[in-house]
Amino acid sequence: MSKKVFIKDFKNHVGEEVTVCGWMFNKRSSGKLYFLELRDGTGITQGVIFAKNPETDPLFQTAEKLTMESSVRISGQVSKHPKLENSYELQIKDIEVVQIAVDYPIAKKGHGIDFLLENRHLWLRSRKQRAIQVVRNTAINAIYEYLNNEGFIKIDSPILTPNACEGTTTLFAIDYFDEGKAYLAQSGQLYIEAAIFSVGRCFDFGPVFRAEKSKTRRHLTEFWMMDAEAAFVEHDENMKIQEGLIVYIVKKVLEKNLEELVVLERDVEPLKKIESPFVRMTHKEAVTMAREMGSDLSFDHDLGGDDETLISQKFDKPIFVEKYPAKIKSFYMKRDPENPELALCDDLLAPEGYGEIIGGSQREDDYDTLLERIREHKLSEKDFQWYLDLRKYGSVPHSGFGIGLERIVGWICGRKHVRETIPFPRTINRIKP
Ligand code: 4AD
Ligand code: MG
Repeated sequence: MSKKVFIKDFKNHVGEEVTVCGWMFNKRSSGKLYFLELRDGTGITQGVIFAKNPETDPLFQTAEKLTMESSVRISGQVSKHPKLENSYELQIKDIEVVQIAVDYPIAKKGHGIDFLLENRHLWLRSRKQRAIQVVRNTAINAIYEYLNNEGFIKIDSPILTPNACEGTTTLFAIDYFDEGKAYLAQSGQLYIEAAIFSVGRCFDFGPVFRAEKSKTRRHLTEFWMMDAEAAFVEHDENMKIQEGLIVYIVKKVLEKNLEELVVLERDVEPLKKIESPFVRMTHKEAVTMAREMGSDLSFDHDLGGDDETLISQKFDKPIFVEKYPAKIKSFYMKRDPENPELALCDDLLAPEGYGEIIGGSQREDDYDTLLERIREHKLSEKDFQWYLDLRKYGSVPHSGFGIGLERIVGWICGRKHVRETIPFPRTINRIKP
């Protein structure tokens, strides 16, 4: 067999004899020609067999045996596609069958979402599902790059934790030996707050867990979150960092994944408009706007998913909604010195109706005030003593935010439901495969 080459690199091998290792996903024949559609994870190509005598030609006979998803090593010469620009073919000289797939259960179309989710381990191979994972990979790398460039270093926060970060109603509890209950982390925020006193600016990035009882298109019980935190950064600068990050992620995806966005039938024009500055409004203004559009939301409530959809449909740029009533937000948020009823926080809504993708805030940095909040929220003073310590030894103003990877990828890929953006989604009624 000749040199192994990836389909994405065919343009550098025109005229050469190469070997492609991958899977057959479609085929057709026409007279003396046989066409095999092959994929190798990096791309798709058409393999062509020409035979003077199809009935006796051994390559034709082998091609006949190949079923959908059969694995192969195929050698041949790379040539330019006779009609399509920037497209290449393989003139097949040899086929080595690795394994014949029997009755692949996913056909070209016509499956319901439940069937596809039951077969997620196979569904992942489809063109659209592959494209989503490629975009997800670009977004992950863009997040690392942007933050590293801005002086943030990665600090890994624990998954097994003794206390809640985001309220006690969505905790997954497990028995932890003789220590009693432990909980799966809802966000690494509190731990990376500790780490900024060591490294100044840092972020974590990993799976987090929420026992979300709601079945919405935006909620998973296991999802990937990047929490960023920075010392000596206040509310306004915190939003600037978030804005820069989103602009960077979208730019990188447009740079690297146009082909994937085409496969996903994603209109890229709205993505090209993602530039600074973003839209900015207070929670009060957001509620007023939602009410004008028919919502019955009251001013002392969090925006619901439907309200976020209404507001974010109105804009072609992401929208910061800031300064929510403090009483409906987390205990750690600092109050607005101009109006202590409000928190110095922001939610970033993606445009086109996608809703919240980031939650962030300045953190309470005064020991006594934070202690009061912990008591108000009926949290255990003992469990949070280490967190209070951070306000005792060199406390500084600081802020941070958390980005939901699946929400970002869902928006950029134009998927209505976040379950397609994670390889193996976990929701209230799904833990398999
Ligand atoms: O707004 P949240 O709850 O904020 C926090 O957890 C903070 N501790 C983050 C921080 O300041 N470091 O969650 C952050 C983001 C949301 O904006 C959303 O994108 C995503 O995480 N998210 C979910 N994604 C999928 N499924 C869920 N159940 C989600 N809950 C939150
Ligand atoms: Mg939030």
